[in-house]
Amino acid sequence: MLYPNSNYFYFIFCILLILVSISSCQTQTANNKVQKSEQNSITKSEFGKMPDGTSVYLYTLRNTQNMEVRISDYGGIITHWIAPDNKGRYEDIVLGYDSLDGYLKATPYFGAIVGRYGNRISKGKFILDGQTYHLATNNGENHLHGGLRGFDKVLWTATTVDSEIPTLKLSYLSKDGEEGYPGNLQVEVIYSLQEDNSLKIDYQATTDKTTIVNLTNHTYFNLSGDVKGDILNHEITLNADYFLPVDSTLIPTGELKSVKGSAFDFLQNKPIGKGINDTENEQIRYGKGYDHSWVLNPSKEKSAMNFVATVLEPISGRVLEVFTMEPATQFYTGNFLDGTIIGKKGIAYKKRYGFCLETQHYPDSPNQKNFPSTVLKPNEVYKTSTIYKLSVKQ
Ligand code: BGC
Repeated sequence: MLYPNSNYFYFIFCILLILVSISSCQTQTANNKVQKSEQNSITKSEFGKMPDGTSVYLYTLRNTQNMEVRISDYGGIITHWIAPDNKGRYEDIVLGYDSLDGYLKATPYFGAIVGRYGNRISKGKFILDGQTYHLATNNGENHLHGGLRGFDKVLWTATTVDSEIPTLKLSYLSKDGEEGYPGNLQVEVIYSLQEDNSLKIDYQATTDKTTIVNLTNHTYFNLSGDVKGDILNHEITLNADYFLPVDSTLIPTGELKSVKGSAFDFLQNKPIGKGINDTENEQIRYGKGYDHSWVLNPSKEKSAMNFVATVLEPISGRVLEVFTMEPATQFYTGNFLDGTIIGKKGIAYKKRYGFCLETQHYPDSPNQKNFPSTVLKPNEVYKTSTIYKLSVKQ
């Protein structure tokens, strides 16, 4: 009689091992660990309805690393970003609501595209080609984030792009006179989830009349995963020698102030919480923490995306890196969150439970001659990109 030799058993063992690993591929275990998926994808599901009954959709972008970003065609909002920590646990790293209703009722711009002019315009007034324009004053005496119904509150037309990587294109026509801005502005925002775990945002706009544009994304990050507390332990490096001091209404004074030695100095990484309560500092008092524009040090290579910031959450090991073509970033530390908003999974978002790195031009540029221009003319194309890249430090 013939008996199988040890090679035979080894062969059977290997086959069994392969079968087991195939069947467990793409499964999510109890502690949120996800196996690698073979394919990237983009899927569409209904998120809810607008008050007039129009359906709102959620697009789920997933790459082969199993990173997942969900984006709504309402406001172009990034509602979820599921990313691994140093133990391979997949958790959500952005603030937001479980359902569309939350966003429809009240939102401090969670995850949204912000425009036509992100940030503040003093007294909602500016002069262009000799004509004075008046915008809504929706932030005390100033105009903020595009007005009463900015780009964060409109329904965008979404198309999924046929590409190697999951890509969502959002388009919106902002009509001449909308929120007081001149010119029909045709806007496109393209979100693509890259294989290196970065989300690239490409913005483009054209106008038929001279206007002003300053687009950004207003995602609140909390890298602890599923919001385990505030963001004060997150360590940040910000590539900026200067920031823009503001008045008590958060309008830049026009000065570029050196960060050296102050609570605004993040040239070497340090915890966000270190100087955030330095109330001796007038600027910290005005912002109730950090709510300022940092002027990015120019990149050495002209065409390259400029480095903005690195943020590390030391317990989860999650690292966020930001790159942009914009000259500045608003670094906002969720100072106005006060626990009244109940976000995803029933979590109350308290003061400083999230931080934003809103890449953009300087606030109030239309009224400040020495700031880089935010004017867009009919024969020009507004084009800019920002990358948010996630990784893990072991
Ligand atoms: C502003 C903050 C504001 C927040 C939410 C940030 O971009 O700088 O002052 O509270 O957006 O509206």
